[in-house]
Amino acid sequence: MCGIIGYIGPRNAVSITLEGLKRLEYRGYDSAGIALLEGGGIKIIRCAGKIRQLEGLLGEKGTASARLAIGHTRWATHGGPSEKNAHPHKSGGIVLVHNGIVENYISLKRGLEAEGCKFNSETDTEVICHLVNKYSKALPFEEAVMAAVKDLKGAYALAILSEKEPQKIIGVRKDSPLVFGVGDGEYFLSSDAAAFLNYTKRAIFLEDDQIVVVSPDGYRIMSADGSPVEKNPQMLLWSAGAAEKDGYKHFMLKEIHEQPRAISDTIRGRLDAETGEVNLEEFGLTEDILKKTEKVIIASCGTSWHAGLAARYIMEPLALVPVEVDIASEFRYRKPVVKGSELFIAITQSGETADTLAALRLAKSMGARTLSITNVIGSTAARDADSVFFTRSGPEIGVASTKTFTTQLVSLYMLGIAFARAKGAITADQSKALLGELLSIPEKIELILKEKEKVEEIARGVFKKKDFLFLGRGINYPIALEGALKLKEISYIHAEGYPAGEMKHGPIALIDEDMPVLFLLPTESFLREKIVSNMEEVRSRRASLILITDGQDEELERLSTSHFSVPGTNEFLTAVLMAVPLQLLAYYIGVLRGCDVDQPRNLAKSVTVE
Ligand code: AGP
Repeated sequence: MCGIIGYIGPRNAVSITLEGLKRLEYRGYDSAGIALLEGGGIKIIRCAGKIRQLEGLLGEKGTASARLAIGHTRWATHGGPSEKNAHPHKSGGIVLVHNGIVENYISLKRGLEAEGCKFNSETDTEVICHLVNKYSKALPFEEAVMAAVKDLKGAYALAILSEKEPQKIIGVRKDSPLVFGVGDGEYFLSSDAAAFLNYTKRAIFLEDDQIVVVSPDGYRIMSADGSPVEKNPQMLLWSAGAAEKDGYKHFMLKEIHEQPRAISDTIRGRLDAETGEVNLEEFGLTEDILKKTEKVIIASCGTSWHAGLAARYIMEPLALVPVEVDIASEFRYRKPVVKGSELFIAITQSGETADTLAALRLAKSMGARTLSITNVIGSTAARDADSVFFTRSGPEIGVASTKTFTTQLVSLYMLGIAFARAKGAITADQSKALLGELLSIPEKIELILKEKEKVEEIARGVFKKKDFLFLGRGINYPIALEGALKLKEISYIHAEGYPAGEMKHGPIALIDEDMPVLFLLPTESFLREKIVSNMEEVRSRRASLILITDGQDEELERLSTSHFSVPGTNEFLTAVLMAVPLQLLAYYIGVLRGCDVDQPRNLAKSVTVE
């Protein structure tokens, strides 16, 4: 997730902007840049890499007299990390920084190129710059911004400068955060208040489609049509540290709450629910390649392996294509048989997991076509594979994967639908229904999050236990594995995940009143009766039974000690919804046990060695 900062005021604008960028570093970034007003002209300095490199470049140019600047840390989404893709971007006299994703950038870019615009980067952002510049030929700065954003589909927070009106910064937002800081004769714009809290605690959180025009003399806030909006600053009582976490106590909890946004971003511009099509161009795959693919092989580690297991439950029944799923560290050494007609998928949020990379290279060397599903543009997995699908979770700071897992699931769901269409296994109408359901998932996760106290209550009842069993069937079996892994990682409680049908083949020996057993059971599951008999067996051993289901059901509730309901959805997407209360359960149990939930002992965010 990119970070934006802008400053107008009597102080050294460059040092305030750099300080703000450093406060936004926690969001993760791969390049940085700054535009400053000095001697009546706008200078741009940017680079791939870290802020200290940017500082080095700035040092050479001498910038102490600037009183207005905008800055940016970039987390690549369109085009890899490089100087030319770093922000600020410039077109004519317009200079801007952007956080978000322009969904319709390809069609806008084609149109602008036909009008003679020359593009210098691979970013979606550059289209905004050209659009504002185009409109500013006939309109004043503010109106040109308003006209340009009307052409955009997607999410954006922007800070924009114009050489024609160099004493102004215009900020505008839609679906990406932008907060305006009001100091004493000085003003700040930022992706989050952490960037300016040392200077002012008075802030205005802009709403979608609102525009703020700032100059040394003051500011105005307007709605999209230019009509004035009255908004008074509010006093923030946060410390800079709390602001980084949006007021949440931990990054893990913040990232669990970011899932609706992360999933919306991952879906954004990649499907057409009206026609039932998934945009394959983005995957770097064609319909023909998918049609001819005889088998899918997935290899990955940890949480990403669980996403791979879930993919088998999506792709096989939907696309009627065989799917084999392996733990990457096993795949690389078991002398697998891989053919040229097969598609190998590496799933890795970091894109740097050593075993997954080795498996990817092995499959490639054996002639398979390769696809990486990763959250990091420019990562080794992205570079090494023939095709890449980027999840757009934004950086994940908590060591335990949460939002990167659910975005992997929705990416695999989209890929499964694309496969099924290419293979003629589902009709356009079926595809439309499946994609339509996907679009409702962010809202359904919001509903789960509104009830998080219920999960906290469940956690209070069991946090002192030493062993847990997680059971599910079908696509909920990998989710049971993921629930158990989250609990192990975050709370150091021993937990096992099993397919519920395996309970009688061993784990039942462990069950007694000291071992909580968690069942994942959608009310309409066609295996319901079988799971209900597992539940009866657990109850008769006096174990606490936690049920995660998707509706009100007296029979199931009677059998359980505590229960939580997620909204209903289709059998494939239930995995995404069921994962959320399990993340919350691990989080609350970890907090109740006094664990360091963001940085659990012995774990690393990216395992780059064997
Ligand atoms: C997840 O919570 C874990 N920290 C871990 O299992 C992780 O999923 C695994 O190391 C794979 O990482 P990757 O997705 O970056 O390849």
